[in-house]
Amino acid sequence: MTRFDIITIFPNLFDSFKNEALIARAQKKRIIKINAHNLRKWTEDKHKTVDDKPYGGGVGMVLKLEPIMKAVEAIKEGYRLQVTGYRGKNKKKLDPNLKPDTWNLKTRTIVFSPKGKKFNQQMARRWSKLDQLVLICGRYEGIDERAAKYIADEEVSIGDYVLFGGEVPAMVVMEAVARLIPGAVQKKESIEKESFTIAKELEHPQYTRPEIVEINGKKRKVPKVLLSGNHKKIEEWRKQKTN
Ligand code: ADE
Repeated sequence: MTRFDIITIFPNLFDSFKNEALIARAQKKRIIKINAHNLRKWTEDKHKTVDDKPYGGGVGMVLKLEPIMKAVEAIKEGYRLQVTGYRGKNKKKLDPNLKPDTWNLKTRTIVFSPKGKKFNQQMARRWSKLDQLVLICGRYEGIDERAAKYIADEEVSIGDYVLFGGEVPAMVVMEAVARLIPGAVQKKESIEKESFTIAKELEHPQYTRPEIVEINGKKRKVPKVLLSGNHKKIEEWRKQKTN
């Protein structure tokens, strides 16, 4: 079970993502769990302020450090207590017989930013072996730099373009990670095979019926080799067509 804890000021953005298709199924099967936490929960003023003006001047607002700090701490601690016997609302006492290794949950904290390290399949594979991934989503003009420097383990970008915030990057990461966890994808073989390929490799082209489709007056056909039934030839063709 890998648990994803997202820290965001737009937790509702994750509602449909969580509750559809393979992500929903993986949660039902208890392979993953997604929790979207509202950052405002960890503010202490009346207005639940999460942002402030940048030091040194400049346009826009910057996400404050303290709510993020408190959120990460509370979320990590919450999960640790849950796993080690402190069950939700019952406030059950910690089990003194628990082995110390059950306390060592593998957790990693990621902060999203366009200046971070580029996300790739290798990172997804590494994170798919964790117990918990804490995903901090930036908004506005950025997050106080100390979050990336001292709170998060890694600063990650999903590509060389600028989005409004880290929510879509969080979904990208969760989907890439979730499908690598055994049981999340039905065709076990296809994901295992993929896991051994190097991160840069992309998949070969795929076709399904019908064999011929007319597009703008031209008949577009499925490559003949795929209809040949010659598995060796098909394998060769696929290898050749893989980027
Ligand atoms: N926040 C804004 N743009 C981003 C990007 N490309 N990757 C990660 N986080 C972002």
